[in-house]
Amino acid sequence: MRRLPLLKLFILFFLCVTVLYIYSASNRSKNNTEIVKSGHIVDSNQEKPFIDRIVISFVVCDSRFNESLNVIKSVLLFTKTPVYFVIFTDNKLRSQFNETLHKWKAMFDNQLDFELQRIKFPEAHEEDWMNLFSKCAAQRLFIPKLLPHIDSMIYVDTDTLFLGPADDLWKTFKKLNNSQISAMTLEDDNPNVSWYPRFAKHPFYGKYGLNSGVMLMNLTRMRDFGWVDYVTPIMLKWKLYIPWGDQDIINIIFHYHERAVYIMSCRYNYRSDQCMYGDACADATEHGVFVLHGSRKAFHNHKQPAFEAIYRAVDEYEVGTDPMKILENIDKYLMDAPQSHCGNLKDAFLKIPLQTLIKKHSRPDR
Ligand SMILES: *[C@@H]1O[C@H](CO)[C@@H](O)[C@H](O)[C@H]1NC(C)=O
Ligand SMILES: *[C@@H]1O[C@H](CO)[C@@H](O)[C@H](O)[C@H]1NC(C)=O
Ligand SMILES: *[C@@H]1O[C@H](CO)[C@@H](O)[C@H](O)[C@H]1NC(C)=O
Ligand SMILES: *[C@@H]1O[C@H](CO)[C@@H](O)[C@H](O)[C@H]1NC(C)=O
Ligand SMILES: *[C@@H]1O[C@H](CO)[C@@H](O)[C@H](O)[C@H]1NC(C)=O
Ligand SMILES: *[C@@H]1O[C@H](CO)[C@@H](O)[C@H](O)[C@H]1NC(C)=O
Ligand SMILES: *[C@@H]1O[C@H](CO)[C@@H](O)[C@H](O)[C@H]1NC(C)=O
Repeated sequence: MRRLPLLKLFILFFLCVTVLYIYSASNRSKNNTEIVKSGHIVDSNQEKPFIDRIVISFVVCDSRFNESLNVIKSVLLFTKTPVYFVIFTDNKLRSQFNETLHKWKAMFDNQLDFELQRIKFPEAHEEDWMNLFSKCAAQRLFIPKLLPHIDSMIYVDTDTLFLGPADDLWKTFKKLNNSQISAMTLEDDNPNVSWYPRFAKHPFYGKYGLNSGVMLMNLTRMRDFGWVDYVTPIMLKWKLYIPWGDQDIINIIFHYHERAVYIMSCRYNYRSDQCMYGDACADATEHGVFVLHGSRKAFHNHKQPAFEAIYRAVDEYEVGTDPMKILENIDKYLMDAPQSHCGNLKDAFLKIPLQTLIKKHSRPDR
């Protein structure tokens, strides 16, 4: 009977030592290893982590300033890894971005940084380029040459919202094989609703075409590929037949270079097409929508209440305030929204935000 307390004491002592050791080891690795910030446990002896910062880029002219700020907000809400934004914009919006992003940068310490780039098209066809599809959107085709200092980035349209940590999407870069320079999702995989096979008058990728709203670009590889040299001849040849502008040019290039693009799951570029006729993206239903894309004005035009509900929650969220508020609001606005096919998949929209925020907040280091 007298031995038991001693044994207990010994076990307790041993546990204390172990806990202290683990704590100090994690403390040491925290100092230098950025991946720990993103919520992944790493051995402090491991080599340099794959992700030390995430680069995200978009192009915006004229309007859509608020919408594009919401892209940044959504990234900050769910991502812990440092994020570097490269924003291509006109003179009018540049000072507005500068002001807002300086404010946010100060609030987020080392987590947020950015650079603002001017819109630059080749002089020879500047007018054509500027007005292809929406104003200045074609800028993205020239990015490999315009950012020689950047290896890789995630390009997004301004009408997108992240619902989970950008790290998860960035990890897709690891899946690219040697001939792949970019990763994208398909426009659709249903011949009955897909735009390209029914209406396109130009070549496009595969059977259904690509949607370029979320595009992982390994710029190093795109430069080696000679990407920018392809775009002007294609534009000149097809400019009367490409209603979606830069997206169509991307489709034409990958039509002739199928091996150069990696196809991602539809959950990384989830549009109303994926739900408005019923569930057309099983992966999102199972694992959650990761990036929401309000293409064809789905965030604003009152045709997709579920998309509008999520957009509204992000739009109303004030940077720096309690992120849990956004969960409540997404849930509430989805509940209040008129019934719709997309709204029926409510759980798919909430799944990743729920997982991410609960994980983020149950961690003692934040
Ligand atoms: C953990 O790190 C902080 C500063 O980074 C330091 O002040 C503290 O002493 C460390 N604790 C342990 C147990 O190593
Ligand atoms: C920990 O981080 C601080 C600040 O970044 C740095 O000055 C210090 O040298 C680091 N210590 C170790 C052991 O890496
Ligand atoms: C953009 O957001 C600001 C501040 O939230 C608001 O005052 C303004 O009306 C918004 N502009 C548009 C076009 O929605
Ligand atoms: C951006 O804002 C910062 C701080 O407010 C200021 O120092 C800087 O000159 C501004 N840059 C531009 C290009 O307006
Ligand atoms: C992009 O490709 C280059 C050249 O193959 C490679 O060194 C680099 O690691 C790639 N970047 C990413 C983020 O995978
Ligand atoms: C496409 O339409 C045809 C004819 O209406 C139908 O039989 C088929 O199931 C549809 N395919 C898909 C994938 O919805
Ligand atoms: C990369 O994957 C694509 C698609 O599976 C394939 O067509 C291509 O041949 C692969 N490239 C290499 C170098 O293995």
